[in-house]
Amino acid sequence: MSYALPDSAPGFDQPIAVLKHCHDRIRKQLATLEKLLPHLASHGADEEARQAARAVIKYFDQAAPLHHEDEEQNLVPMLHSTASGADAALLAELVPGILDEHRQMDGIWQDLHEQLRAIADGAAAVLRAHDVQRFAAMYRSHMEREEGHIAPMAKRLFSAAQMAALGQAMQQRRGIAPSAAPAPAAATGDAVASLRKDYGQASLSETDVADDPFVQFTTWFEEALKAQVNEPNAMSVATVDEQGRPTSRIVLIKQFDPRGFTWYTNYHSQKGRQLAANPHAALLFFWTELERQIRIEGKVERTSEEESDKYFHSRPLKSRLAAIASAQSEPIANRDALEQHYEAVARQFGEEPPRPDNWGGFRLVPERIEFWQGRRSRFHDRIVYTLQSDGSWVRERLQP
Ligand SMILES: Cc1cc2nc3c(=O)[nH]c(=O)nc-3n(C[C@H](O)[C@H](O)[C@H](O)COP(=O)(O)O)c2cc1C
Repeated sequence: MSYALPDSAPGFDQPIAVLKHCHDRIRKQLATLEKLLPHLASHGADEEARQAARAVIKYFDQAAPLHHEDEEQNLVPMLHSTASGADAALLAELVPGILDEHRQMDGIWQDLHEQLRAIADGAAAVLRAHDVQRFAAMYRSHMEREEGHIAPMAKRLFSAAQMAALGQAMQQRRGIAPSAAPAPAAATGDAVASLRKDYGQASLSETDVADDPFVQFTTWFEEALKAQVNEPNAMSVATVDEQGRPTSRIVLIKQFDPRGFTWYTNYHSQKGRQLAANPHAALLFFWTELERQIRIEGKVERTSEEESDKYFHSRPLKSRLAAIASAQSEPIANRDALEQHYEAVARQFGEEPPRPDNWGGFRLVPERIEFWQGRRSRFHDRIVYTLQSDGSWVRERLQP
């Protein structure tokens, strides 16, 4: 058996290349594992076999778990927060399988580890071909999928700042970078009241902001994406019931343009019914990492059938089936009943479920948009745009 010399590794300033390099090393270890099968049959657990077993154990015990963590804790969440449209749909399709395979490969590795340990110790010369073949085949197809879809998407979508953040996280995981700032203490009980954060990252002045609030929103949204804000597209939607009592919930914004801010939902849900009776609503974005809040108020209208169709059909199959299967906001006996209903819907509609009439987009057409930037000592900046009857926007500063 022969061992290739380690090739030169890319630096963490190229994190996607580092991940590919890890794949290449996994491929080498898999080849060693496969060569071990005939070697053991002809030579038993000789010194060469023991060395090979030790090398494979070392790699899959130490390096491979870090590689999986890089993907699960950094790469995939960053992609989720950056991708939209077809990219987001592809992620929704691929990521659950990728994560599931990580678990399965970990499981097979536990079995292989036992066998290789005995070989490395010279205590046995048995390696089950079935385990080796399953492990190698699953890893190879898994890496191919990641290299074919995930890595190119990250290269295409990530900004230089995101690449740097990914590389730094991977470096820290390996203990070769300054450690991250300590996590904040848990906020419970009295501690919540004493939590006090002073904001001072940025400022917002009348001359900084654009004349058009949509242009300003676009600038801030893009900055939120670049800063890898957690779920930048999550916003609260507040509606009121017939007695004027407010209620709010989080939804994901799917589109914004000068016509308004769009999300998709079930028209028969609580929010859908409330908006049918009273179209006034308020949206709220809070991007804590940037110390920014955006409040948007106005009236809500339904998106066109074509827009709703287009978005519905861009969603992954399971999400489309779930939209049909869920009578959103209605009670149901238990989870089993919900899942059985989903299965029945999946059987009924197959691969091309139609958009239900009661599912589609709502667009909030704004009349007031406020941009809030946290400042030191609670002396925050607030710039509000108010729509005038001639369609123009008036801009004012509000006191904090
Ligand atoms: C991060 C996040 C994203 C969500 N996105 C949506 C969405 O886009 N559309 C939706 O109908 N519900 C979404 N939900 C669920 C809603 O918060 C809510 O539970 C659901 O719409 C029912 O609300 P309702 O009973 O007030 O109508 C999301 C929840 C979270 C936490």
